[in-house]
Amino acid sequence: MSATAKKQAPNAEDIRARKGGTPLVSLTAYTTPMARLMDRHCDFVLVGDSVGMVLHGLTSTLGVTMEMMIMHGQAVARGLSQAMLVIDMPFGSYEEGPQQAFRNAARLMAETGCAAVKLEGGVEMAETIRFLVKRGIPVMAHIGLTPQSINTLGGYKVQGREDQAEAVLADARAVAEAGAFSVVLEKVPQKLADKITAEVAIPTIGIGASAGCDGQILVVDDMLGFFTAFKPKFVKRYADLGPLAEAGIAEYAAEVRARTFPAAEHVFSDQAPSKG
Ligand code: KIV
Repeated sequence: MSATAKKQAPNAEDIRARKGGTPLVSLTAYTTPMARLMDRHCDFVLVGDSVGMVLHGLTSTLGVTMEMMIMHGQAVARGLSQAMLVIDMPFGSYEEGPQQAFRNAARLMAETGCAAVKLEGGVEMAETIRFLVKRGIPVMAHIGLTPQSINTLGGYKVQGREDQAEAVLADARAVAEAGAFSVVLEKVPQKLADKITAEVAIPTIGIGASAGCDGQILVVDDMLGFFTAFKPKFVKRYADLGPLAEAGIAEYAAEVRARTFPAAEHVFSDQAPSKG
C-alpha cells in the first residue's frame, strides 16, 4: 500500500493477519490535527496514556483518567479515516478484575468509536484479556517496560535482561494465548524481542525493542521534537519542531513589542473592497 493511496481503516483481525508481513506503522496522537497528519501513513494510531506527560505536564502516566482518554480519543477519532484507532486503558481502570475492565473498555469504545483498547501487563492480565476478547473487545497487550508500574519496577529500566528474560517471554505467550491481537514490547533487549517475535503468533509492536518486530510505535511528540523534557535512547528525532515553534513565538513577541505586527496586510480598511 503506498502512503498516498486511500485505504479503509484496518480492524484488529487485519492487524493480526499482518504477522510476519510488511511492518506495521504506528504513532501516538492526542489531537485532531496531529491525527489528520498521520492518518494515511499509519496502520493504527494509539491514544496513549503518555498524553498525561506529553500534553498535561504530569510526571508519570499514573494520574491519567478515563475522562482524559475519552476526550483525547474523541479528538483523534475526528482526525482519522484510514488508520485504526486504539486507546489506552488508564491506570486504575482495569486492574481490579475482568468486570471493571469490561465496564471501562466498553465505555471507551462506545464514547470514542475506537476499534480496540490497549492495556499493560502479561501473565497477570491474561484472564482479563480473555474475558474482554470473549465479549467483543479487541485487546492490544503491552509488556516489557509497563510505565503504569514504574513504582514496582523501580523506574523506566530495560526489562528482560539475563534471568528476567523467561518472565517476559512467559508474558508474551500468556497474552497471545489469552486472545490479544497484538502485543507492544517496550524497552526489552533486541535478542529477546526477536525471540518473542519468532515465537508468538500475534504481531509484536516494538518501542525500544528491535527492527525485527512486526511493527513499530513511537510517541509522536518525541519523534517530532515537541517533547523535550527528556529523550529516551529508543527515540529517533525525525524533526526538531520544538525549537522551530519557539523561534516563531519569539519572533511574534518581538514584532508585537516593536509594533511591526500586525502590518498593513493584516488589518482592515473602513471601506469594503470593491467587488469586480
Ligand atoms: O502511552 C503510550 O504512548 C504507549 C506507547 C508508547 C506504546 O503506551
